[in-house]
Amino acid sequence: MWQQNNYVTFNGAALPMPTAKARLDREHYAGATTMQQEWDHVWRKTWLLAGVEQDVAEEGDFFTFDLGRESILIARTETGALSAVYNVCQHRGNRLQMLPFGSVLDSHNCPYHGWSYHLDGRLKNVPDRERFSQGIDCAQHALKPVQVRAWAGLIWINMDLDAPPLEAFLGSIMDELAPYRIEQMKLVRDQSCKLDANWKTVIDNFSEVYHVDFIHAQHASFVNCRDARVDLYPFGHSAFRVDGYVINPRYPVPDLPPPILAGAMEAIGLSPEDYRGRIDDVRAAAQQQKRKIGAAVGFDYGTLSDDQVSDIWQYNLFPNIIMTVKPEEVWIMRPRPHPTDPDKCVFDKLTLAMPFDARGSEHALVLLGDPEAARIMTSGERPERDIFTQDKVNDGSVSMTQTVDQDIYYLPDMQAGMHSAGFDAAVLSDDENRISHFHDWLAMWLQANPLRG
Ligand code: FES
Ligand SMILES: [Fe+2]
Repeated sequence: MWQQNNYVTFNGAALPMPTAKARLDREHYAGATTMQQEWDHVWRKTWLLAGVEQDVAEEGDFFTFDLGRESILIARTETGALSAVYNVCQHRGNRLQMLPFGSVLDSHNCPYHGWSYHLDGRLKNVPDRERFSQGIDCAQHALKPVQVRAWAGLIWINMDLDAPPLEAFLGSIMDELAPYRIEQMKLVRDQSCKLDANWKTVIDNFSEVYHVDFIHAQHASFVNCRDARVDLYPFGHSAFRVDGYVINPRYPVPDLPPPILAGAMEAIGLSPEDYRGRIDDVRAAAQQQKRKIGAAVGFDYGTLSDDQVSDIWQYNLFPNIIMTVKPEEVWIMRPRPHPTDPDKCVFDKLTLAMPFDARGSEHALVLLGDPEAARIMTSGERPERDIFTQDKVNDGSVSMTQTVDQDIYYLPDMQAGMHSAGFDAAVLSDDENRISHFHDWLAMWLQANPLRG
């Protein structure tokens, strides 16, 4: 059995398959015209994941979301509502808030000439106001709003004020993700890597597992990427379902679980030796064992199906979110386009983890994986935002996890190759269907907004 592809519409809605076929050539990945079209028809029109709700938990909390040349300022107001506005002062256009996140008392204050704004964006005070002899109408000079929504503990914005709600965009994916209770998870790592690659080159990398045997050889011993199930959704979203606690069946089956699988088994209290000659039984055993120890460590697997308990599901949410979902941990990977250079992006990785009662058992901390994440979780701190270049990943001084580090190593070479006179356009296999799905929908977005019908 190889990768299975299903085309899934939201609640039976009759949405057309993409009509335009994208040509994946140099212009597509590195052209200034394509970059501008994407800005006008994608970034300014779709729902975008801006950040985590925990950064705007209390009145006066804010964070900024920078994308291309734009910056959006999101805040929690006095009434408990969320506000999202363009992060630009209405006096002479200075960037209003420079910090990535923080807290203000009751207003946003422009550092340049001191204009101040209420948390909801209304103009509050203008120093030497009488010197504006033309008069200043506060209502006219409010910060310009964008749409904002909280869902799954995440903050979503849309620069299109007339765009239909997030529900229309994400459809049944919202129901599929609900059992993971992402809204209860906490941010434990906040990393940003400056990468010499177009944002779509990053999306492509996380849309196929064809490369896994070659650059992530370690995967063969703990997940079955070959037989992934793929769901293709409207608007360009897609999902991968990959079995965990298994080995890749295209290789000879060892007698004993190999080291990475054995380590994962030991972490939940299963003895690899008990599964000598029975590797096929490990996945079901892991599902049962997690449910059993879950209660002991204060973690509830009760909302999840057996598949969700053991497997790794990855959702790509159009345009630029790659969400790798496990019961204990969610990675949100997000390439953001560079303001001017299509050959660059900033690749963010937010790691969210489900709080455990760490005193309950040694399994709690092991399940949480990384000791720094466990420390952040226990301390209740917000992790620092760690910003670095791809060179730091390549020289081993920072890591976004072994698998992602391996991807980062290759992405700039992929981007560089697209500039070659010796490259025409990509040729895709059936196991790269998520790539064509994404780009065909992207081509459709560039022609007309599919969300607005
Ligand atoms: S630009 Fe903001 S107060 Fe002048
Ligand atoms: Fe990869």
